[in-house]
Amino acid sequence: MPANEHRILLLGSGGREHAIAWKLSKSKRCAQLYIAPGNAGTATCGENVPLNPLDFESVGRFCLDNRITMVVVGPEEPLVRGIWDYFQEEGMLKHIPVIGPSKAGAVLEGSKAWSKKFMHRHNIPTAGYREFTGETIAEGLEYLKNHSLPIVLKADGLAAGKGVVICSSHTEAEREMQEMLGGKFGSAGHRVVVEEFLSGIEFSVFVLTDGRTYKILPEAKDYKRIGEGDTGPNTGGMGAVSPVPFVDDVMWQKVEERIIQPTVKGLQKEKIPYKGFIFFGLIKVSGEPFVIEYNCRMGDPETEVVMPRLKNDLVTLFDNCAKGTLGRVKISTDKRTATTIFLVSGGYPGDYAKGKTITGLDQVKGSIAFHAGTVEKGEKVVTNGGRVIAMTSYGKDIPAALRKSKRNAGLVKFEGKYYRKDIGKDLTAL
Ligand code: AMP
Ligand code: GLY
Repeated sequence: MPANEHRILLLGSGGREHAIAWKLSKSKRCAQLYIAPGNAGTATCGENVPLNPLDFESVGRFCLDNRITMVVVGPEEPLVRGIWDYFQEEGMLKHIPVIGPSKAGAVLEGSKAWSKKFMHRHNIPTAGYREFTGETIAEGLEYLKNHSLPIVLKADGLAAGKGVVICSSHTEAEREMQEMLGGKFGSAGHRVVVEEFLSGIEFSVFVLTDGRTYKILPEAKDYKRIGEGDTGPNTGGMGAVSPVPFVDDVMWQKVEERIIQPTVKGLQKEKIPYKGFIFFGLIKVSGEPFVIEYNCRMGDPETEVVMPRLKNDLVTLFDNCAKGTLGRVKISTDKRTATTIFLVSGGYPGDYAKGKTITGLDQVKGSIAFHAGTVEKGEKVVTNGGRVIAMTSYGKDIPAALRKSKRNAGLVKFEGKYYRKDIGKDLTAL
C-alpha cells in the first residue's frame, strides 16, 4: 500500500456515517474502508463489519488484525466513553489515529453543565443558567418559581436526544425537574441545567480541529420537529439545507471571533486533546449568535448536506487533522445548495415498526439516497430504524434542490413512510 494511503475503520450506522463513507470512498487515498456496524448504504462504499463501536477491545483487535491506519468515529457515545483514550493507553494501538476528541474533550457534549461552565470561563455567548442535583432539589424548585417562561430544563448527560424539555408553565417545570432528578433519564439526569429560553433562528456550524488550528466546514440548518411548520415532538432531524442564507459575512465574523476561536483556544489552554469535529448548535437572537449546545461529532442530517458540499479530499483532511497539520489545508466548497429530506418510519419519533421492505431506490435519479435505518435482508433492503433514508440533492438554490429531493422522496416506498414537505421553506420566504 502506498505510504499516503489509509486503511480506515469508520464507526457508526446512520445517515451521517453513510455520507462520511460515501465521501471517504471517493478518495484515492482510501485503500480500504470498513464500517462498523454500518447499514445497507455504507455496504456500497466499503465493507460492513459486525462490531459494536462501544466494545473497545473488539474494535482494537479488529484494527490490529486488519492493519487499520485510521479510525473515524461517527457517533458521540464511543467518544464520551473514551475510545480515543483507550487507543492512546493500549501500546499496540497508540500509533493508530482516532479522528474524534479525547474523553476530556467529548465532555463538551457529554455534560451540559460542564459545557456551560466552559463557555463561562471563556466568555462564549450562551443562555444564562443554573444547575441542580438531588441534593439541591429544594433550592432548584424554589429557583423555578421566579423563572420567566418558558423554562428550558436539560438533563446533564447523554439522553439519546431526549434530554431537553422546554416547559411552558411553572408546574410543568417543577414536575420535570423532579422526574429528571428522580431518574427519568437514568444517571444522565442526576444533574439538571435550568436555562434561560432564547428566541431566534437556529443553525449548525462545524469545524474540524487538530487541537491547534481549525477549519470551518459548510454550515447547515436542521429541521428538528416531526411536523410541518416546525410542530410536534423533537426528532433527530427531519431534513437539512446548506448553505444557510441568513448566515452572512457579518454573522460569520461574529461566530468565528466570539465562538469558534475562544472554544478552540479554550480547549488548548485547558490542555484538552481534541482532534476531531466540533459541532456548534447556534441560535441567532436579534442579530447576535449564541451557543445552544456543543456536540463532539458531526450532525445528522447535517452531514448529508455538508459532505456533498465539501470539495476537499476527506482522507487528506483527516490525515492532516491527525498529524496536527490542518493549517496547510484550504477548505474548498461547492457553491451549489444541498438539501436533504429524511424519509422516516410511521410513528417515529415514538414507536415504529422495523423490517419493512424498501422499494424504488433503483429509480432515484438526480439525488443521493443516504441510508440511515436500513439493513440488507437477502436480496432486499428493509427498514431498521426511525429515520430511514436521507434524500440529498444539489440545486442552484434551495427550491431547485428541494424539488429533486421531493421527487425522489416520492419514488422510494415502504409501509408507513412519512416525510416533511416543507424543509427549507422558511428560508426561501426570508
Ligand atoms: P439539544 O438536545 O441540546 O439539541 O436541544 C434540543 C433543542 O432544544 C435545540 O435544538 C433547541 O431548539 C432547543 N433549546 C435548547 N436550549 C434552548 C434554549 N436555551 N433556548 C431555546 N431553545 C433551546
Ligand atoms: N441534527 C442534530 C444532531 O445531530 O444532533
